[in-house]
Amino acid sequence: MLETLKNQKLQKWIHEIVELTEPARVHLCDGSEEENRTLCEEMVKNGTFVHLNEAKRAGSFLALSNPDDVARVEGRTFICSEKEIDAGPTNNWRAPKEMQDELNTLFKGCMRGRTLYVIPFSMGPLGSDIAHIGIELTDSPYVVCNMRIMTRMGQAVLDLLGDEGEFIPCLHSVGRPLKVGEKDVPWPCNPKQTHIVHFPEKRSIWSFGSGYGGNALLGKKCFALRIASVMARDEGWMAEHMLIVGVTNPEGKKKYFAAAFPSACGKTNLAMLQSQLPGWKIECVGDDIAWMKVGKDGRLYAINPEAGFFGVAPGTSAKSNPNALASCSKNSIFTNVALTPEGDVWWEGMTKETPPQLTDWHGNPWTPGGDVRAAHPNSRFTAPANQCPVIDSAWEDPAGVPISAIIFGGRRGSLIPLVYEAFDWNHGTYLGCSVSSEMTAAAAGQIGKLRHDPFAMLPFCGYNMGDYFNHWLSIGKQTTPDKLPKVFSVNWFRKSPDGKFIWPGFGENVRVLKWIFERTEGEEHAEKTPIGYLPEQGALDLDGLHLPQEDVHTLFQIDQTAWLGEVQEMRDYLSQFAERLPQGISDQLDQLEKRLKNG
Ligand code: OXD
Ligand code: MN
Repeated sequence: MLETLKNQKLQKWIHEIVELTEPARVHLCDGSEEENRTLCEEMVKNGTFVHLNEAKRAGSFLALSNPDDVARVEGRTFICSEKEIDAGPTNNWRAPKEMQDELNTLFKGCMRGRTLYVIPFSMGPLGSDIAHIGIELTDSPYVVCNMRIMTRMGQAVLDLLGDEGEFIPCLHSVGRPLKVGEKDVPWPCNPKQTHIVHFPEKRSIWSFGSGYGGNALLGKKCFALRIASVMARDEGWMAEHMLIVGVTNPEGKKKYFAAAFPSACGKTNLAMLQSQLPGWKIECVGDDIAWMKVGKDGRLYAINPEAGFFGVAPGTSAKSNPNALASCSKNSIFTNVALTPEGDVWWEGMTKETPPQLTDWHGNPWTPGGDVRAAHPNSRFTAPANQCPVIDSAWEDPAGVPISAIIFGGRRGSLIPLVYEAFDWNHGTYLGCSVSSEMTAAAAGQIGKLRHDPFAMLPFCGYNMGDYFNHWLSIGKQTTPDKLPKVFSVNWFRKSPDGKFIWPGFGENVRVLKWIFERTEGEEHAEKTPIGYLPEQGALDLDGLHLPQEDVHTLFQIDQTAWLGEVQEMRDYLSQFAERLPQGISDQLDQLEKRLKNG
């Protein structure tokens, strides 16, 4: 079968990997419905998949992972650049030669008894000049079925690749070879030996031991962010951890915004927001990743390189995100959520009332009232983007959509106002540097602790973050200031002195998008403060919200002492980048401090 492959480089690579990993079979994925059906049936037989009730969730399956394989593992994620300084202080670095030797040992014979699947995929609409092709070799059929939803996958990609086309090689194994006659487990993995490795100069990915999400669906975080960020630096474009939305005002004028938030801060909710303001409409281009390039007209254009959503399930409800629920109403894969007796799925926060009886994500009978959760906090749905009721008409436009505003946000109980605008691109770049958030369950770590997450890229930048800041500054020089998107900071999570969230969030966030829209139209409505432009009194549409005046005051309060503390904190944080910290960013810190001191 491999002989039909026209691309010599691809053939050679597959042969090398077959020799190394010794799979029992090789299957070249064509991406067809039939292939998908066969794989799903095989997984049902093996116990990996439970077929959900067709009447309730057509064409959908539930997978329960090994309890030790439930999230990205940042401690085992490596950037193996030739020089350590090029990985920078925020990445785990290992010398490439040493790591390659270790991987060769790990991968030796690791696919014995399994099928090696060849997954040709495109990140971005086929043929877009912002898109790129990858080939994932994996021994996990679960990965194949997820990649079929998350990317454009199959024969059409091979056709586009042709004889000479370039691709990013992405190798993945669950790391659990089968002995002759050994029965497989439902979720094979090898958590003790997990390695998620990136070789930025070679532009290749080797992932071992995990079958979960970003560790295994290599098109997403590994390729579209870590490796793509390196390609983007070298080629003058941007690979960002950002959602993309279309915002239409009551007069029918449409603009596109991109927004970066750390993992599990509500990117998917904002991307599919149901407007609570009459006449305002939000449509979704993407919920996680944006690839952006300055176009011929000098504006920044963005594509969503993905074709599906890999969304956090808990908290997704008819109230918080009806469009996400509709997106996963059929043809979807659920991982680590609970199963209802009727063969449907459930998770915490999905409905007001908890079903009286469930099977939890461990596969055990579950009833409400105990302290174990029915669904894992990082349980997910994998759903096709084209099933989203508010998918934007231009979401597959190969040219991308022009971006008018870039928004940064995080979970911050204090300090950061609901919304403010940067003075210019360089100041906006500083806002990106200063993103931090109270931690959630998307990655292993201490929940609730504040962590710096510049540009929401901390776990996803494939090179020295100091150089990445510099790359942002340099993008600002590719075009004229009037063509650049305006940059904003938002914080939906500010709390009142008694510890309650002040801002209602969700569909009401459209009020903030409205102010941003008006600002990108050049309308005034803003007050200059030391930290940036804030909405002037009355400019933010709060009609009908009935927010007490003192809460509105808290939402926009700038505590000078606390901000000076933040400047000091940022200086400490940024000092780790040493000589790789661009002067342009140090200047921003100095200027902010000066403005704060001058009141
Ligand atoms: C994700 C993440 O899964 O950011 O999107 O962790
Ligand atoms: Mn993400």
